[in-house]
Amino acid sequence: MKVTVVGAGAVGASCAEYIAIKNFASEVVLLDIKEGYAEGKAMDLMQTASLNGFDTKITGSTSDYSKTANSDICVITSGIPRKPGMTREELIGINAGIVKSVSADLIKHSPDTIIIVVSNPMDTMTYLVHKTTNLPKNRIIGMGGALDSARFKYRLAEALEAPISDVDGMVLGGHSDTGMVPLTRLATRNSVPVSAFLSDDRLNQVKEDTKVGGATLTKLLGTSAWYAPGAAVSGLVQAIACDQKKMFPCSVLLEGEYGLNDLCIGAPVLLGKNGIEKIVEIELNDAEKAHMKESAEGVSKTNGLLEL
Ligand code: 2OP
Repeated sequence: MKVTVVGAGAVGASCAEYIAIKNFASEVVLLDIKEGYAEGKAMDLMQTASLNGFDTKITGSTSDYSKTANSDICVITSGIPRKPGMTREELIGINAGIVKSVSADLIKHSPDTIIIVVSNPMDTMTYLVHKTTNLPKNRIIGMGGALDSARFKYRLAEALEAPISDVDGMVLGGHSDTGMVPLTRLATRNSVPVSAFLSDDRLNQVKEDTKVGGATLTKLLGTSAWYAPGAAVSGLVQAIACDQKKMFPCSVLLEGEYGLNDLCIGAPVLLGKNGIEKIVEIELNDAEKAHMKESAEGVSKTNGLLEL
């Protein structure tokens, strides 16, 4: 199993590190445009192998896509991250050009690959990869819902004063401060709806804290987060590499599911060796459906800014 991660910045390097630590891939190639940077990160990570107990071989490359040839999975993290006060949507101008050329270069060397898009605005960048490559829809996956759901579980556990392993929940919709749809109604603590433990006000607070999860970190760190994004990507990569058929909310091209068409947005999918093996349609109530529709309108508006 060969995995390429484009962009050796904080998110890309975290992603490579978590993939390696889980020890399911034979090879991870890190690629960056900054001379020597990916090689340096790869070497530093390889020097943790004996300490962290993994055999995954990590190599680095400065813009040489031939090194990525025959990758089973390619992760695109390249582009600029947001600064405090910026929305993800404001990154579209620069990141669209980068994601378009990176995906073309990757596919040239790995025509059968599965692509995971991390660059922001993530739903629109995932849609861009659909529009500009000929890959089938099961092989283009946007990472967002897996990260947002992890942040939701963190906030739920905090409110419940419970260990995170007691908590389950999902966030659908767009990966944006206004677009996320945290499903508080369906969230549980050991199968018991969280509404049995938390007031409506507290649950609303959890929802709002989840939606601005990325912005809160950007304000604290001065740039966008990397540990949870890297861990979320490694979870998706592992589900595909190990054919787990695991359910994650991911940005996926919808064609009628959830009453939505012609956009990529967060919906639950089953991930296995073929990438997206199924889009899971769960029953939403009227408020959740309205929130999804509003979220989709926001994503479509951003998609409208793409020069296709
Ligand atoms: C975040 O929410 C990187 O968009 C990513 O942290």
